[in-house]
Amino acid sequence: MNTGTLRRVVLSINNISKTFPGGITAIEEINLDLYEGEIVALLGENGSGKSTLVKILYGVYTPDSGEIKILTGDKLSRVNFGNPVDAMKHGIILVNQTPQLIDKLSVAENIAITLSTLRSRDHSGFTSISETSKLLKEVSESTGIRVDPNEKAYNLTYSQKQFIELLRAIIVNAKIFLLDEALSYLPIAEKKRFYDILYSLKNSGKTVLLITHKIQEAFDLSDRIVILRKGRIVGVLETKNTTVDEVRRLMFGETNNKYIINNNWSNPEEEHVIEVEDLAVRDDHGREVLSNITFCVGKGEIAGIIGVAGSGQRELVESIVGLRKPIRGKITLAGVDVVRKGIKAVREAGVGYIPDQPLKQGIACDNSIVENIAIMFSSNPILINWDIVKEKAVEIVKNYNVQSKSIDSPVKTLSGGNIMKVIIGKELSYAKQALIACNPTRALDELSANNLVSVLKYKAHAEKLSVLIASEDIDEVLTISDAVYVLNSGRLIGPFQPSKVPRERIEELMVA
Ligand SMILES: Nc1ncnc2c1ncn2[C@@H]1O[C@H](COP(=O)(O)OP(=O)(O)OP(=O)(O)O)[C@@H](O)[C@H]1O
Ligand SMILES: [Mg+2]
Repeated sequence: MNTGTLRRVVLSINNISKTFPGGITAIEEINLDLYEGEIVALLGENGSGKSTLVKILYGVYTPDSGEIKILTGDKLSRVNFGNPVDAMKHGIILVNQTPQLIDKLSVAENIAITLSTLRSRDHSGFTSISETSKLLKEVSESTGIRVDPNEKAYNLTYSQKQFIELLRAIIVNAKIFLLDEALSYLPIAEKKRFYDILYSLKNSGKTVLLITHKIQEAFDLSDRIVILRKGRIVGVLETKNTTVDEVRRLMFGETNNKYIINNNWSNPEEEHVIEVEDLAVRDDHGREVLSNITFCVGKGEIAGIIGVAGSGQRELVESIVGLRKPIRGKITLAGVDVVRKGIKAVREAGVGYIPDQPLKQGIACDNSIVENIAIMFSSNPILINWDIVKEKAVEIVKNYNVQSKSIDSPVKTLSGGNIMKVIIGKELSYAKQALIACNPTRALDELSANNLVSVLKYKAHAEKLSVLIASEDIDEVLTISDAVYVLNSGRLIGPFQPSKVPRERIEELMVA
């Protein structure tokens, strides 16, 4: 923010409210001005209305009341967006946690579609692939993000896709960048590069509204912090004049922000519930991404495997639960010979599983909460005892603090973090022997993430559940785990006892 110069408001939100069919008021009487050349962090607990607000600004939802004004020329004019293309034409673009690229098309083709859609609106014609490639080259040089315009989107990693989304936003000349957890799924090293681009966007007068669950990230990046609570703005703070504690108090209320996490090293029993021996696994492209993997997890133990994206974690977890056939090696999970018997036998043995992409694989979003829980306990609808399933659903909603109108609400009407809580709740209530989880706290607000850590510790240490967590989040792994392993380029290093190994050492091993 350039103090001393007169900053112009680029977006003015006046009295915006939105109630969804079914009566959930997601946001109420929101008033906020965004200025040119600033990064604003939008914080709030799961379900507080953050995504709804940015979707209104992006023309995905129409507000019930209120108005949005955009700086056009040198005055603020009222706008009504019927769809995202309208918003983009006014210089607003949304990047969320799921890349929107069309997999079958190349990078340049993807961007050409966006440019052509925008230009066809004002009849200025279509954009050729060669013109798009030229534009891509320019932004690639100015941002330092290398891209091959001809690469098909399906060949790109998650991070590469997120960077392309950002480059696309720059190419379409966006003035206001809405980022809804766009950084949450990026590995640490990529995050830093993303940060750098955001800083330079800000310095060139652009405006960034960033939704994140990492309070520290908001402090690292933003000029101002806006806090939503139950659909209302409860704080607009200058980042340099506030504290993490004040932000927490506004987000969660007075009483709720102190979780005591018991960090005792448990003494796992001798019995091994997860045993992996000399495992070698291929990735989706046929490359051997894991070799010589040997480790075990005792009954009642929490093992954490940390590694940057692409280090083979997803493939490891998928092979342990029987979804990916290894090249060689032996896996025993809850007494099941996984390589021979596969996922069905693993599930029947009482193993819960939270996949890397839970919204794609872990839940049926068109179905209700209660239906999703019913599917867990019986594959045959005739055999479902609905009274028991409903009781279970009510218990999960209560224990995991799922914010939903009722257990009969379709999952897709829940906020991202609340969907994650349903997945965690159902998998943990199903898991009797072991839980295998990828990045389980990723979409959760800080309080819910701490709550999950406590629940996992209780389930493991008191109820003797064995837990294996694969994560890119070093803090997550260090707080949850009894034993930590580092996965780097397909090799497993460890185990380490988290209290006995410095964090820096783990970081070194991750990238060494
Ligand atoms: N399409 C929809 N239909 C009905 N209710 C919805 C819909 N989308 C969101 N909601 C409700 O609006 C409220 C706010 O949701 P929103 O997704 O904006 O929260 P959020 O702050 O982004 O949460 P999270 O941190 O979990 O992503 C929630 O109660 C949610 O259930
Ligand atoms: Mg959200």
